[in-house]
Parts: sequence; structure tokens; C-alpha cells
Amino acid sequence: MGDSPDRSAGARHVAIIMDGNGRWAKKRALPRSIGHQRGVEAVRRLVRALEPMGLDCLTLYAFSSENWKRSEDEVDDLMNLMRKFIKSDLPEFVANGVKLKIIGDWQSLAPDIVAMLEDALAQTANGTQTLAVALNYGAQNEIARAAVKAAETGAITTESITAQLDTSDLPPLDLLIRTSGEIRLSNFLLWQAAYAEMLFVDTLWPDFKPEHLSQALNDFAQRERRYGGR
Ligand code: FPP
Repeated sequence: MGDSPDRSAGARHVAIIMDGNGRWAKKRALPRSIGHQRGVEAVRRLVRALEPMGLDCLTLYAFSSENWKRSEDEVDDLMNLMRKFIKSDLPEFVANGVKLKIIGDWQSLAPDIVAMLEDALAQTANGTQTLAVALNYGAQNEIARAAVKAAETGAITTESITAQLDTSDLPPLDLLIRTSGEIRLSNFLLWQAAYAEMLFVDTLWPDFKPEHLSQALNDFAQRERRYGGR
């Protein structure tokens, strides 16, 4: 991911911390698993809206390296949802030109998921809008891995680290959104967020609609960013 500050044409790359599935379910006295299922539906709606919204890239925080601390049942639920989602939606990605990308330490997930993802990456390689999914992702780990690779190539500089991040082939991050009213980054895209706009909304993730993203993109287009200059 480059660091060019010329983003005058509107947001190209939006990232979302999808939070609030559990609270959405609790409010309805439903199991957390239903909240996550509804969360996947919210993902699907947004992916379908990528092209009409003119976004080049949407990066979603689907499973953090901290999420392993959840109950075994919940981890299983999330992994199964990932399997189901890739299986059911891959043909649509291919048909609609959605290019899948995975960031994080995803190669250490269950072998069947890794194989499924590798196949999905290959099948969608020619897509024009990127859906980047963070799986077993932690930003500090990503930065540490990038620093090691940068050191191997010579100098450790901001540019050489940026070039080794999992996101090195994505446009600069313009806007980072977190749902559900929590105001923290939870180890997501810490390096990439250096100049990103931030938006924290109260909406719980399963209730998040393309209209919310459209509104956020309109607001983004109104803001003037100076990157530390005047
Ligand atoms: C946060 O809600 C959400 C997650 C930890 C996982 C996000 C996962 C999905 C939306 C489904 C899987 C995604 C894909 C791309 C298939 P929470 O459980 O922390 O909610 P809470 O804070 O209200 O308990």
C-alpha cells in the first residue's frame, strides 16, 4: 500500500471493524451465532454495493488474532460461516469482478479453509474491486513481519516497511469505520491508519447497510485532509 496523499477524487479504500453481532443477537434474545449469521448478510450486501459506490477496495476485520480467546463453539461458528460464505458467494464474486484478498496470518488456519481460500484467490485474481478480508489478523504482528522482511532487503524505512505489509498492493487507506459505538482500533491496520479518516458509528454490524457506507463516503468527500501540512 503506497502513501500518496493525493486522494482528492473521494475514498478508494475503506476498512471496517465489524462490531456488535453479539449485542444485536442479545437485544433479540437470540444466540450469538445468529448475530454472526446476520453479520455475514451485512457483508454480502456491502460487497454487492462495491461497484455502484465506486470503491476500489473494502477491507473487513473478520477474525482477529485475539478472537481465538472466544469459546470454542463461537470460534467454530465463525470458521464455519467463513467456509459457507466463500462457498456460496464465490461464483458471484467471479461474475461481478470482485477480487478476493486475505490479510493476516491466514495460512495457519484449518487446512481446508486455506485450500478453499487459495482456490478463491485464484478464481478471483482478475477482479477489479478488491474485497480484502482480515483473517487471524493483528496489526502489530503484521508490522513486525514487515519489518523483518524490510531488514532482509536492506534498510528499515517507513517506505520499506509499507512495501512489505500485507496490504502493499492495495490503495492507501482513506477511511476506517467501526460499528457498535466502541471507539478503539483493536489492533487493526495500525500502520495504514496513519492518515486515514476515522468514523465511529453506533449502528450494530448486522444493521449496517450500503446506505450507511454511502453516507460515510459522502461525508468523507466533504472533508479536507491536510496530512500534517496547512
Ligand atoms: C464482532 O461482533 C464481530 C466479529 C468478531 C466477527 C465478524 C464476523 C462476521 C461479520 C462474520 C464472518 C465474516 C465473514 C466475512 C464471513 P462481536 O461478536 O464482537 O459483537 P459484540 O461486541 O456485540 O459481542
